[in-house]
Amino acid sequence: MLKSVAEKPLSLVVIGSTGSLGQSVLAVARAFPDRLQVVGLAAGSNVELLARQAAEFQVKMVSYAQGHWEADFPSVRGLRFLTPREMVTAPEVDVVVVASVGKSGLTPAWAALGAGKTVLLGNNEVWLMAGSLLVERAQANHGRLLPLDDEPSAAWQCLLGEAGPVRTVYLTSTWGTIRSRQLRQHGPVLPGRVVEERSSRRMGKKRAIDATTLVNKATQVAQVHYLCGVPVERIQVVYHPESVVRALVEFADGSLKALLAQPDIRLPIQVALSLPERWPTETLPRLDLLALSRLTFETLEEERFPCYRLAVAAVKGGGTYPAVLSAANERAIDLFLSQQIGFTEMPAVMSRTLDAHRPVSLPTYEDILAADQWARSFAGSQVPE
Ligand SMILES: NC(=O)c1ccc[n+]([C@@H]2O[C@H](COP(=O)([O-])OP(=O)(O)OC[C@H]3O[C@@H](n4cnc5c(N)ncnc54)[C@H](OP(=O)(O)O)[C@@H]3O)[C@@H](O)[C@H]2O)c1
Repeated sequence: MLKSVAEKPLSLVVIGSTGSLGQSVLAVARAFPDRLQVVGLAAGSNVELLARQAAEFQVKMVSYAQGHWEADFPSVRGLRFLTPREMVTAPEVDVVVVASVGKSGLTPAWAALGAGKTVLLGNNEVWLMAGSLLVERAQANHGRLLPLDDEPSAAWQCLLGEAGPVRTVYLTSTWGTIRSRQLRQHGPVLPGRVVEERSSRRMGKKRAIDATTLVNKATQVAQVHYLCGVPVERIQVVYHPESVVRALVEFADGSLKALLAQPDIRLPIQVALSLPERWPTETLPRLDLLALSRLTFETLEEERFPCYRLAVAAVKGGGTYPAVLSAANERAIDLFLSQQIGFTEMPAVMSRTLDAHRPVSLPTYEDILAADQWARSFAGSQVPE
């Protein structure tokens, strides 16, 4: 468990502080200034926002991937410009939140766990790529790896203090079979929902596409599998349009535990930072139980979500398969966004890449990086003549 926050605030580093998830992490830090102290921030290229955040939280360390370091940055006394690896391993850091997007999140997560830090991992690509290896690294170095996303956090909370056995873990989804029936008509065109969601950013689009193909749900399945040791076969995604129940766990004795909350990503972030305590808050939306008229759940017609099925199969296959799947998914999305393939052709790119891969069953860090690189190159070449 995290050390008691009563005596001293937890010192946080946020990797990807300028993104949507990173800004939610900072909103939680802002709400609990006595308990959380942000000491370091890292971003990709949005130096303006990073500078404002650095000034607001008076951080001592910053890092950014693209730019001219100090030349781009207003001078702040005592501010150190570091690499993400240097920042997350600094002795004063208690907790590292990895909220960046893409595989760049792997280095800080790996380094922080190697230094025995607590890591809150929100980055979906890194969960798929190396989740199993990161759990092992946390155990070997007395670090901790915790979930940030809504549904995996809910399942993890339901399982805390339970010795099992578990019959089924249910993760809920608001995107389901009925809505997926409308997808066929889109063919090579971008589905409307994807256009609506932050269409100016490539990775914002990726997140929206992952939500449509349900690859994001497969990533949540992976998180529960790696973190809680529940076999993939026992984790089921169900369509739940009311979006109130985040996850349910059915135990072998027939008891069910559920976690209900209004969807707001700040809640699982706060939970990961506060447990075993529960910090009182007035800023998060409350669930009005009496206003709930019904809760519905529907089986997912998995055959309508081929990318999801491939991703779950890769997690089940283990070894280097999930890393290959994650890279192939990114490349398939790139091909789709650049109009080289249609939306419904993405699963074929992923499936051909998985088929061509020679897996390593107990991969090292280097094996994962090699599999990622190979898969990006192979999947990128899968464009029909
Ligand atoms: N948003 C959510 O509520 C949410 C919920 C669950 C899971 N997730 C997962 O969390 C991850 C982030 O999602 P998001 O929605 O926050 O994406 P986003 O809005 O696109 O933000 C991405 C962040 O990553 C930063 N970044 C990019 N390259 C970097 C690098 N090389 N080094 C350090 N930082 C880098 C970006 O910096 P710049 O802006 O400066 O380029 C930005 O801060 C994704 O894997 C997503 O699937 C997000």
